[in-house]
Amino acid sequence: VREPDLAGRHVVVSAGGTREPLDPVRFLGNRSSGKQGYALARSAAARGARVTLVSANASLPDPAGVDVVPVGTAVELREAVLRAAADADAVVMAAAVADFRPATYAVGKIKKKDDQEPAPITLVRNPDILAEIAGDRARSGQVIVGFAAETDDVLANGRAKLKRKGCDLLVVNEVGEHKTFGSEENEAVVLGADGSETPVAHGPKEALAETVWDLVAERLG
Ligand code: PMT
Repeated sequence: VREPDLAGRHVVVSAGGTREPLDPVRFLGNRSSGKQGYALARSAAARGARVTLVSANASLPDPAGVDVVPVGTAVELREAVLRAAADADAVVMAAAVADFRPATYAVGKIKKKDDQEPAPITLVRNPDILAEIAGDRARSGQVIVGFAAETDDVLANGRAKLKRKGCDLLVVNEVGEHKTFGSEENEAVVLGADGSETPVAHGPKEALAETVWDLVAERLG
């Protein structure tokens, strides 16, 4: 049985992938299943934390004893995370958040016109939620954890991302069409703003979740 080292703590976890609608039937999305975020939520609850799980489009059962807030888009995810983060001790952003969304939403289904080229899709930037909460934490004393989904130069990109986002810990994992997304397993290196590097060997997403909470618990003191 695990020591309840997160008892009395409120933690916020985001999971899944945002969907950015083009029209009532289409969206821009990504391959996140939510499994890594749900594993983090279950693990934190087992360690005694009060857990808010902001879940974007995941088709997974609600973890027992966890407060699940369903969202669709990046803008909705931002609102839910910021609201829950107000009294949180730690925030872990495992969700795959779209960096861009379509500039316009067509109220009716976009029609194909046989005599015309397809219309280009114009994108606008979504808010960077992780950078925003990491910027706020100077006041709040929260531990902020990001994930980095990389396909190449994984560690170098991860280190640059840790600096850019300003979080305390960044879990760097490699992704691909058939890698990490949707699978039961993951492997990663957790980079710390203090220069630490914690490798996590290939194994169940639960194992990575436990290491993340070990590092968070250390930083909460
Ligand atoms: O859900 P699974 O199928 O189990 O897959 C797990 C996972 C691969 C989705 C997960 O382990 C993972 O890597 N999640 C982060 C995916 C991602 O969006 O990475 P990124 O490198 O694009 O973003 C970096 C960080 O900034 C992330 O913490 C992300 O939540 C956050 N972000 C990104 C964009 C944005 N506009 N706002 C953000 O807060």
